[in-house]
Amino acid sequence: MNIKKICCIGAGYVGGPTMAVIAQKCPLINVTVVDINTDRIAAWNSNDLSKLPVYEPDLDSIIKEARGRNLFFSTEVDNAIDAADMIFISVNTPTKTYGKGKGLAADLKYIELCARQIARVSRQDKIVVEKSTLPVRTASAIKSILDNTGNGVQFQILSNPEFLAEGTAVKDLLEPDRVLIGGDSTKEGKGAIQSLVDIYANWVPKDRILTTNVWSSELSKLTANAFLAQRVSSINAMSVICEKTGADINEVSKAIGMDSRIGPKFLESSVGFGGSCFQKDILNLVYIAKSYGLNEVADYWEQVILMNDYQKNRFSDNIVSTLYNTVSGKKITFLGWAFKKDTNDTRESAAIQVADNLLNERAYIEVYDPKVTEERIYADLEHLNSRNPEENRELLKIRQNPYQASENSHAIAVLTEWDEFKTFDWQKIYDNMKKPAFIFDGRGILDTKTLEKIGFICYQIGSGT
Ligand code: NAD
Ligand code: UGA
Repeated sequence: MNIKKICCIGAGYVGGPTMAVIAQKCPLINVTVVDINTDRIAAWNSNDLSKLPVYEPDLDSIIKEARGRNLFFSTEVDNAIDAADMIFISVNTPTKTYGKGKGLAADLKYIELCARQIARVSRQDKIVVEKSTLPVRTASAIKSILDNTGNGVQFQILSNPEFLAEGTAVKDLLEPDRVLIGGDSTKEGKGAIQSLVDIYANWVPKDRILTTNVWSSELSKLTANAFLAQRVSSINAMSVICEKTGADINEVSKAIGMDSRIGPKFLESSVGFGGSCFQKDILNLVYIAKSYGLNEVADYWEQVILMNDYQKNRFSDNIVSTLYNTVSGKKITFLGWAFKKDTNDTRESAAIQVADNLLNERAYIEVYDPKVTEERIYADLEHLNSRNPEENRELLKIRQNPYQASENSHAIAVLTEWDEFKTFDWQKIYDNMKKPAFIFDGRGILDTKTLEKIGFICYQIGSGT
């Protein structure tokens, strides 16, 4: 099928940037991104490009080029589905918070709603593409819904998981390591795969477009995230040993990363991984393993999450014990709230857990993050249900610059690796802090030698010296 019109359901961190790049690279294809969230769609349509709902380096220029030409954002979901030859489903698949599989399984209600809506609205044959991350075999449920409309419309279902990372989304989309497309081996299935291959081939080299069966594609996405998260937990496990023994985690990472079998990426020790997907996807994998009675497999992957929880909690424990076993009434400055640099996303950010632990100890926190909004930070705290909203607002304040946030502070905690933190006037910060002035660098980004010369007492994750 020669695709002329694409609809993407879900205008989030994946749907927005992914479709923007497809529209930019395929000017002859009309791309409409739809969402039920009217505020989000309004923000995507904003004339002020700094108001786009997703912050990603270079995304604004792509939106500027394609929006209104062949890229559209709309709340008219039915119309966009009806008009499209190909529909991407890019809605959220959070961990279930109720019923069977609560706390582990992926909640597929949004996916099913999309499938039912596509089934209801469609009047001509369509290719439906799973872009969301889904448990292996979800395509069979979608197929069963779409095959039972009784109106004779034929659907092909493809799996095309997204591997972009936030903060580098545009680069990852323009130069992907690989594009993965899973589909049926029937004639129609192969035709559908080819239609999607042809779209990506507009800018992705053919040898980077991998085609598989649907189940391999679905499972590869969960596997990739599990492996990536496992590397972070593995290096974080070693960071504690470094702190106990006088070894240095950066030196260890470099030494093992030079082994070409291990490779240098994803070996940065941190206060713990965050983001909307690693934890949710591993929990999903744990659930799948358990549902097949594979308890040893489930336990193996669950350990990656337990290690991550340990890393976040030991960071806050260390702050409390270093500050003479009490932080009650003491001001602690948080540099960073986002789960990583170059994004405004805070989902599952380590900062949230660390803040919660310190607030439980009655600390007073002031946060500076260059991209995260005040409303977002308070919403993250309220979501925890640890204390009422008024208390959160009293115990934690958000500041627009680091100098204000650190005035009269007892300690600074670095929670996100924003580049600008390295360039602060640290002497000025030191002069205005309470003494002794402590720094807890949970990202290993600061030059502790220089800071110690100024007078700071420094703790850096994974550094035993
Ligand atoms: P998101 O929450 O940012 O966006 C999802 C959007 O879908 C929301 O705006 C929501 O309003 C909309 N939506 C939900 N149900 C809808 C419906 N029935 N009709 C119309 N719109 C609907 O989520 P995201 O971060 O973009 O993630 C989407 C999927 O992609 C998830 O499965 C995630 O695991 C996967 N993924 C995410 C990333 C990432 O970096 N965030 C990377 C790769 C894969
Ligand atoms: C991750 C994957 O990298 C993407 O391939 C995948 O598409 C995406 O999840 C998804 O499915 O949502 P993302 O979560 O956006 O992308 O960002 P990462 O760069 O993977 O970072 C995740 C977390 O791990 C961050 O908190 C980061 O600070 C932390 N991390 C990463 C480390 O602590 N150390 C590292 O060496 C690397």
